[in-house]
Amino acid sequence: MCGIVGYIGDKQAYPILIKGLQRLEYRGYDSAGIALLNKQTVLYKQKGKVSDLEAHISGRTTDGTIGIGHTRWATHGEPNNVNAHPHSSFNNKFIVIHNGIIENYSMLKTKLIKRGYKFSSETDTEVLANLIEFIYLTGKVTAELAVRLALSKVVGAYGLVVMCKDEPDKLIAARKGSPLVIGVGQGEYFIASDATPIVEYTKSVIYLNDDDVAVIKKDELKLKTIDNEDLTPKIQELDLDIGEIDKMGFDHFMLKEIYEQPKAISDTFRGRVRKDHSDIHLGGLHEVWDDLEKARRIIIIACGTSWHAGLVGEYLFEEFARVPVEVEYSSEFRYRKPIIFSDDVVIAISQSGETADTLAAIRIAKEAGAKVLGICNVVGASIPRETDAGVYTHAGPEIGVASTKAFTAQVTVLTMMALKLANKKNKISDDKFSSLINELTLIPEKIEIALKANKEIERIAALYKDSTNALYLGRGFLFPVALEGALKLKEISYIHAEGYPAAEMKHGPIALIDEQMPIIIAATKDSSYEKIVSNIQEVKARKGIVIAVVTEGDETIKGMADHVIEVPEAPEHLAPLLTVIPLQLLSYHVAVMRGCNVDQPRNLAKSVTVE
Ligand code: M6R
Repeated sequence: MCGIVGYIGDKQAYPILIKGLQRLEYRGYDSAGIALLNKQTVLYKQKGKVSDLEAHISGRTTDGTIGIGHTRWATHGEPNNVNAHPHSSFNNKFIVIHNGIIENYSMLKTKLIKRGYKFSSETDTEVLANLIEFIYLTGKVTAELAVRLALSKVVGAYGLVVMCKDEPDKLIAARKGSPLVIGVGQGEYFIASDATPIVEYTKSVIYLNDDDVAVIKKDELKLKTIDNEDLTPKIQELDLDIGEIDKMGFDHFMLKEIYEQPKAISDTFRGRVRKDHSDIHLGGLHEVWDDLEKARRIIIIACGTSWHAGLVGEYLFEEFARVPVEVEYSSEFRYRKPIIFSDDVVIAISQSGETADTLAAIRIAKEAGAKVLGICNVVGASIPRETDAGVYTHAGPEIGVASTKAFTAQVTVLTMMALKLANKKNKISDDKFSSLINELTLIPEKIEIALKANKEIERIAALYKDSTNALYLGRGFLFPVALEGALKLKEISYIHAEGYPAAEMKHGPIALIDEQMPIIIAATKDSSYEKIVSNIQEVKARKGIVIAVVTEGDETIKGMADHVIEVPEAPEHLAPLLTVIPLQLLSYHVAVMRGCNVDQPRNLAKSVTVE
């Protein structure tokens, strides 16, 4: 949440910062700001998008080779020009950008007010800027020491970059709980909350760890702990290409990412599935298969779409590996005093790898002695670093706030894990294992076929774009798909939508059905096909509008539903990977037709680093 960018070197900082903010805008987009350190320091802030900031700055001075920028997702204080970052300290000595939450900001603020400090914003970040300045001025210490001492008094999470006007040759960056990456160039450094603003300048990066403080001059970087112990920076090679973060001719990142799913899934199993389909190799789990085989139970923790992938995982692990699974919202798990056994295996699923609730839930599980595994998309993020072992999805950067290819890549990983575990536990024979792997490898080309329904889906979207409610139904493996379809629609088109197991309809939601209500039903041919056909009849008997996602050639449902969208035939445990595609496209088209900002829906941010 919120995007940070910083530059120090010989180039003009402004173009680098504004482009960086555009790349980071998916992290937060209610206001943005830039500060440039020069003979005359300038600070520009603007409510709204980065483009509004750019318009505001246009024609004004942007000179300077050192600068910081921020795009905000509001926590403390409404989105407006005053609360936007960067924040200047009271005596204008420091300028700060910050992600995260300073939990004891109110107490610190009261103390600073007693010392004569005045505040212009409602933010916790301004408190931090003033605290640093107060320590700097009263203690007559260096900017670096003032930052470290201030951070030692802070409770909460931060990723921050600080500029000091008295020491205009450096930027100071620090991290606790909120990610920061430093790009290492020739006589220049780049700082950002993720690598997307950095990749076009350098592929050498340093990921800061919690409690790291970096003092960065244009040709020197010193890394230490908050307690002043020297650290050796570990420079890593970035595995990211600039093409992956461009729209590549698509109107929106979400649409591009929907279309990238065949590749994302292939990349996720490439090199892991043996060519003759006889085995699956997941290097990151090498050390923990024993724990998985002996696990009393698997607990899956996640949020949002990743939680829906986790539900598919529950069905997969229980059906194939015959191990009990519980799927928990991280935010509930972390606070509800769950019972965790030391022989439980916990699997945390997260696209970003930075979701605050999932990180906190991981820490609780680790404390209880459970083995904690991660399924994550962003390499080097906090979750893969905090888990005992794990598997990366290789979906590539997901920029659209609505998660699409991350979901199918997560389900792919869960499928591989469940099948391998089942085979290791002798719950499925080698032959069955091999034929199930073969089916999985056919999914990318089947998704290509499913994507061909795009025009038809667009036509259906035009008919129902003005609906105020929608119901999504599915059974078995397709129940999580119903939940995911409903989440996609509500988050980008702001239409109220609910997902239900189809059989639950009779226990309440059926009362909502009338001739205005579109009911989207995932109804491919599987073991509960006859039952879902009955559910469709129940809806039609009440004049509901049925949009059914069916197996190609299904004439039965075609004869009942108002619209059918076909997907290729597949075993039922793989059906989520196909049936979710039309639901993603339907939401996309509805949102576009309603004039919504598809990639940056209101109030949301891509990675939710606050609880
Ligand atoms: O990065 P994570 O997978 O941990 O994020 C979890 C949710 O915030 C995320 O899936 C969210 O629900 C998406 N906007 C859904 O499209």
